[in-house]
Amino acid sequence: MSKWTPSSWRDKPILQQPTYPDAEHLKRVEAELKQYPPLVFAGEARTLKQQLGNVANGKAFLLQGGDCAESFSEFHADNIRDTFKVLLQMSVVMQFASGLPVVKVGRLGGQFAKPRSSDFETIEGVSLPSYRGDIINAIEFNDAARIPNPERMIHAYNQSTATLNLVRAFASGGLADLHEVHKWNLDFAHQSDVSAKYEDLAEQIEQSLNFMAACGVTSKTYRTLRETDFYTSHEALLLNYEEAFTRQDSLTGDWYDVSSHMLWIGDRTRQLDGAHVEFLRGVKNPIAVKAGPSMDPDELVELINALNPDNEAGRLNVIVRMGADKVAEGMPKLIKAVEREGQKVVWSCDPMHGNIIKSSNGYKTRKVDAILTEMKQFFQVHKAEGTFAGGVHLEMTGKNVTECLGGSFQVTEEDLNSRYHTHCDPRLNADQSLELAFLIADTLKDATK
Ligand code: PEP
Ligand code: CO
Repeated sequence: MSKWTPSSWRDKPILQQPTYPDAEHLKRVEAELKQYPPLVFAGEARTLKQQLGNVANGKAFLLQGGDCAESFSEFHADNIRDTFKVLLQMSVVMQFASGLPVVKVGRLGGQFAKPRSSDFETIEGVSLPSYRGDIINAIEFNDAARIPNPERMIHAYNQSTATLNLVRAFASGGLADLHEVHKWNLDFAHQSDVSAKYEDLAEQIEQSLNFMAACGVTSKTYRTLRETDFYTSHEALLLNYEEAFTRQDSLTGDWYDVSSHMLWIGDRTRQLDGAHVEFLRGVKNPIAVKAGPSMDPDELVELINALNPDNEAGRLNVIVRMGADKVAEGMPKLIKAVEREGQKVVWSCDPMHGNIIKSSNGYKTRKVDAILTEMKQFFQVHKAEGTFAGGVHLEMTGKNVTECLGGSFQVTEEDLNSRYHTHCDPRLNADQSLELAFLIADTLKDATK
């Protein structure tokens, strides 16, 4: 392989990029971003990699979730807090049932750039360049909004910094204390069946904590009861931004992309000879690659060799996103090929991106039933292959949105209209997310018995 540098991706074919109208302006912004402080430390990325190594070895479970696309307009402390709370709720549900530690990774603090199925969007005969995420252009449907503007990278960096600052405060400043487990239930979620189920579980956790306190183990004496580890991730799609945050770690001399703890390559940009694989092969963060229905087993083996040549457990997460109707057929051959080669990966399930449909009233949506089905099949296939179903990758929010159909509140096609706020794909709301967490918890409990 040729020599890697933070900019060697520039010599490779690249997909899904904006064309900035002013190249000099882009260069000025890149130079400015290169001066900005990192969002994360290399040491944190190494700790996450170690924890993901435990996932690869069947000793922990990975929960990754957040917005499909963060946006400038939805930026609010309450949104960040509520997503954080739901992820905590989900993690205790899974952890309590399975006895396995849950590694928590948000899709936040940089999840702004979006691959699109078409370069143009056409509405009533008018075609404009597609919206590519707030880090690139604006969602409004007019000429000026859709022109890519590099200044947006600075805005995205500032928002990511503030987001991460708040998340770090939540993780270590008291909100994540297990004694607060009741308070993680969201205000609007009091009446549903799943939130009642959650209250029961919170009660049991509280009793366990009381017993432990009587034994002298409290959140005052044990940091792990009082604080949690929470990591960030996003799709490394806009490589101008990622390159600017690729820095050499002073302790090890290795290169890290310090815009996030973990980064992934999307299903549309995973070409072996392409720019995105070239870029991520050279940074030492834990990374992931999406595998959709078109992934060929030999291609996956080659990709893994390119991205994890030292076969390090925890370095690479394969996120399978086939769709509920394809996973039972499509995944076994991938697992068999990877097992045959002795490659160590974390397998996780993205039950979102293979299950997008259009509602009869025109909304891009997903059925909660299809999401639950894909998740169940993912577990079944791993059980049959004797491999570990290591994690889940979700588009979800702590808000009471109506973007996905079904779930315990039975969101209907007519309801989609009431609180459909996503800037890209439809997200599970808090209730739907918890429902999925209970399903995962039950399955993990069986798997770890
Ligand atoms: C995403 O995770 O938002 C996404 C675009 O996924 P995929 O690359 O799997 O389509
Ligand atoms: Co998405």
